[in-house]
Amino acid sequence: MSYNSKMWEGRFKKPLDSKVNDFNSSIKFDWVMFKEDINGSIAHAYMLGETGIIEKSEAEKIIDRLEKILQDIESGSLEIDCKAEDIHMFVEQILTERIGDTGKKLHTARSRNDQVALDIRMYLKKQCGEVSDLLKNLIYAVIEKAEENKNTLMPGVTHLQHGQPIVFAHHILAYAQMFKRDIERIADAEKRMDYMPLGSGALAGTTYPIDRHMVAEKLGFANVTENSIDGVSDRDFVIELASDLSIIMTHISRFSEEIILWCTSEYNFIELDDAFSTGSSIMPQKKNPDVAELCRGKAGRVYGSLMTLLTVMKALPLAYNKDMQEDKEAIFDALENTKLSLDTFTGMLRTLKVNRDSMKKATSKGFLNATDCADYLVKKGLPFRDAYKITGQLVAMCIEKNLTLEDLPLDEYKKICNKFENDVYKYIDLEYCVNERKVYGGPSAESIDRQIKNLEEFLKNN
Ligand code: ARG
Repeated sequence: MSYNSKMWEGRFKKPLDSKVNDFNSSIKFDWVMFKEDINGSIAHAYMLGETGIIEKSEAEKIIDRLEKILQDIESGSLEIDCKAEDIHMFVEQILTERIGDTGKKLHTARSRNDQVALDIRMYLKKQCGEVSDLLKNLIYAVIEKAEENKNTLMPGVTHLQHGQPIVFAHHILAYAQMFKRDIERIADAEKRMDYMPLGSGALAGTTYPIDRHMVAEKLGFANVTENSIDGVSDRDFVIELASDLSIIMTHISRFSEEIILWCTSEYNFIELDDAFSTGSSIMPQKKNPDVAELCRGKAGRVYGSLMTLLTVMKALPLAYNKDMQEDKEAIFDALENTKLSLDTFTGMLRTLKVNRDSMKKATSKGFLNATDCADYLVKKGLPFRDAYKITGQLVAMCIEKNLTLEDLPLDEYKKICNKFENDVYKYIDLEYCVNERKVYGGPSAESIDRQIKNLEEFLKNN
């Protein structure tokens, strides 16, 4: 039988139109699941033999040949033929070609509907591990940079306007928290993927005395699906993973945007490594942050996949519908681009140089210590709102005189409020301001150490 002739052709009087054949075929993209497909079939054949649905010797023969097919595909001696309808049909057809009638028994008590549901769950479970590992590497890179920049003063901003003083370590450790949540989210999605759907059949289960739990155990699933219709029509786990990938890309795009800003000549807070920057075809001086820009752009692409999946599944009646074949390209593309972004971004972060002097210089502008000046007056007994107002007047005075709060002479302070003493200069020193923020989660040196320690603990246990 050629790959063009169909296993289901019995009831048809004409061969499939070649355009329809191409349109219908999914092997161009679902071939990547060949390993999961073969391992799923091996577990199924084993169970068929153990339960006596087929002879044990037949099961052994099928398993032996499936293992050989897997080896042959992996070694490249068997090429996956793109004329086949999908990877499931291809494997079954090769098996039948190689062992004849026994091969035809593999599909007993199984449908492609539960088969594809199994394969995609197995494939995505593995992918979850890869995404998590990349996120872990990224957190390690953030920790590395944070360790080097525990004392690197930086303006903390809201609305992109100078707000309060922080250190660079604290700023980037905020991203580590996002990536930590991403790992937790992926692990959570994995839990709902961990249900083995084989045995759902086309939609209504099967009359054969199969053992679904045996198959689940063999394939390393924690559970079996509870309802055969849901077993074949559920793609929530694909949408959920695409959502998680979208959130990861949101984080990467925010970090990318900041990196793009920081390496402009206006900021000059960081310099990207030459190996992670690109040039211009016309402007010889240019050094562009293409990696960060591409990561930012790919966020849009991954959201697109999520929208594809949601829209494909919207209002789809139960149970399996061919629409669902559209799930694969969307999730595969989202996975590929998220993994690429994570990996490349990590390299860029690891190699970038921090311009400590520029960052420090930037902290002298924007009255980053104004809150601390008000807090100083609170320590001297003033209610915060009064202290806030007085500090506002001081800031206005400084702006007029083109001075910073540090430069303003004490007698000027005293003109506005007689509570000011010489110790105000100690309290508004930027390094002091940062390190006095010892609150749990704050930017002080001890809080940075604690954040790093807790992250390392998390990475060890996950
Ligand atoms: N290639 C199909 C998919 O990806 C496999 C399931 C086909 N089932 C069917 N009843 N046509 O969804």
